[in-house]
Amino acid sequence: MKTALVIGASRGIGLEFVQQLLGSSWAVYATARKEQDVNALNNLKAMGIQLDVTNPSSLAGLGWHLDGVKLDLAIYVAGIYGPNSGAREVPSVAEFDEVMHTNVLGAMQLIPLIAPMVEESRGKFVFISSLMGSTAETQSSFGWVYRTSKAALNMAVKSASFDYPKAVMIPINPGWVQTQMGGASAPTTTKESVSKMLTVIDHLSIADSGSFKSYDQRQMHW
Ligand SMILES: NC(=O)c1ccc[n+]([C@@H]2O[C@H](COP(=O)([O-])OP(=O)(O)OC[C@H]3O[C@@H](n4cnc5c(N)ncnc54)[C@H](OP(=O)(O)O)[C@@H]3O)[C@@H](O)[C@H]2O)c1
Repeated sequence: MKTALVIGASRGIGLEFVQQLLGSSWAVYATARKEQDVNALNNLKAMGIQLDVTNPSSLAGLGWHLDGVKLDLAIYVAGIYGPNSGAREVPSVAEFDEVMHTNVLGAMQLIPLIAPMVEESRGKFVFISSLMGSTAETQSSFGWVYRTSKAALNMAVKSASFDYPKAVMIPINPGWVQTQMGGASAPTTTKESVSKMLTVIDHLSIADSGSFKSYDQRQMHW
């Protein structure tokens, strides 16, 4: 049986990853911030762990929970959007810090903890990025704090890929998805986005480590 860890699984894309992986008979560790969401994950037969990626003691607790575990797949899904404003408005320090802490620092603090567990299985460590994190494809500034955070996440993953050569480490664009963040008018369901991402993940080889992927197999430009 293969083992996965989904970080940020209370709802949306993360919860859908848990459901589809369980449906394919994976053993799934899944994290959520709130106790009731951890209980809901346990009810699905995932192994729920309480985790706030911005809380250092919570991160240390994750290491304790996963002691000795080998991971075929780890997925960093946790993320927030922050202000929708663009470059005509100054982001507050609090807004900037919260988005960067959740989307970037959380991932950077988890990589040294989780990547060795993924290397043990010659597995895959996937980070949910965004088209909005592509510098090459940027055509406007709305959501510029979020854009900046996902571009920084991309760099964190690409640079870390050199330190963990036995794992495949990639950022992936999930598309514009119907979730609390994506809104109801998004064209893609969580079911479609996650099932297509799992296909992309399934086909990854070590040569793909450090590249930027998309759910729909399109070539992503940094
Ligand atoms: N939806 C889209 O169109 C879209 C497009 C591109 C990229 N993405 C990315 O996809 C990922 C998932 O987003 P989503 O669309 O599924 O949105 P969502 O429904 O808003 O889910 C966000 C998830 O992140 C978790 N989270 C937020 N802050 C956290 C923290 N400090 N510690 C742990 N978990 C935290 C949330 O947990 P709580 O329930 O506890 O808040 C929730 O599980 C994000 O990284 C997002 O940037 C989404």
